[in-house]
Amino acid sequence: MSSPCVSSIIGTGSYMPEKILTNEELSKIVDTSDEWITTRTGIKERRIAADNQATSDLATAAALRAMESAGVKPEDIDLIVVATVTPDMPFPSTACFVQKNIGASNAVCFDISAACSGFLYALQVARNFLNAGTRSTALVIGAEKLSTLVNWTDRNTCVLFGDGAGAVVIRAVDSATEAPGRVLSTIMGSDGNLVNLLRVPGGGSACPITAENIDSRLNTIHMEGKETFKHAVTRMCQASEKALEMAGLTKEDISLVIPHQANARIITAIADRLDLPHEKAFMNVDKYGNTSAATIPVALDEANRQGRLKRGDIVLLVAFGGGFTWASSVIRW
Ligand code: COA
Repeated sequence: MSSPCVSSIIGTGSYMPEKILTNEELSKIVDTSDEWITTRTGIKERRIAADNQATSDLATAAALRAMESAGVKPEDIDLIVVATVTPDMPFPSTACFVQKNIGASNAVCFDISAACSGFLYALQVARNFLNAGTRSTALVIGAEKLSTLVNWTDRNTCVLFGDGAGAVVIRAVDSATEAPGRVLSTIMGSDGNLVNLLRVPGGGSACPITAENIDSRLNTIHMEGKETFKHAVTRMCQASEKALEMAGLTKEDISLVIPHQANARIITAIADRLDLPHEKAFMNVDKYGNTSAATIPVALDEANRQGRLKRGDIVLLVAFGGGFTWASSVIRW
């Protein structure tokens, strides 16, 4: 290529497990109701992976669909980045399992841990490889089996989360061409002072798995919901504005916002603060709940397959998650 490289999304895919867990069913497990969950979160149901499905299985199914939509073969893929907080194992990386499953023998593979911002972090990392010209075609995947981290006795958290996977194929293209799906900008941020507000305290080196720790449910998601909510809205709005500015665009240019799907109230608050009509904010949190790193690639794939993305549309992706971490990316479809 004569001109510098830029990165373009050339295919999307997603996979959601078959099993649906409704609010009604949850209300038989913990003291909650469909009415409470719907009004506070917008969630109606979520998907739960089968016992024999690991995160890499969900990731593989999403990846194959993205590759089919991009028209690429396994040997074309030279980079696989999986964003997840529910890897199959501490190591090897989930990305290596995906590589084995799809036969992408030319790929370099690793995982990224940035909680619900993970997919956009992974997109930026992959984009840096592509723009530098060191890799040409990447699979970027967000995949989670959060049902394994949920405390099914805690009504404050168990109603919020679900399992699923989404993927994109991105390719290095000549900057002089008008390739569709071009990633125009990405910004990322983190604030490690707030690590305690959203975390899984046990299961790592700080608090290894012991019978006592499991009895105390330290291996499950702990969250300060109200604080998390406030930071999520503030950071996602700031990140959106910065990513737009970096792309040389304004709010008026946005055709569709694809925000992290954690809570419908967070999504409408972001749309309001960005002065966008609510119909410009994509929402599927009602069907899937919060699938962490998977929400944005799953929503992007659904928007794509529903025909909501037209060539030339400006699409704003924005995420927030544990860490805290946040990120936003602007794409010209
Ligand atoms: N069913 C019924 N009642 C519930 C409940 C449930 N599933 N979960 C909590 N409650 C109760 C609480 O115990 C509390 O009762 P109390 O007033 O008697 O103490 C009451 O409902 C209100 O709880 P509160 O925490 O004030 O609710 P909220 O309006 O803040 O909504 C969340 C709670 C978790 C839905 C909301 O804070 C949220 O979405 N936070 C951000 C979550 C998020 O985005 N996480 C991931 C970021 S990546």
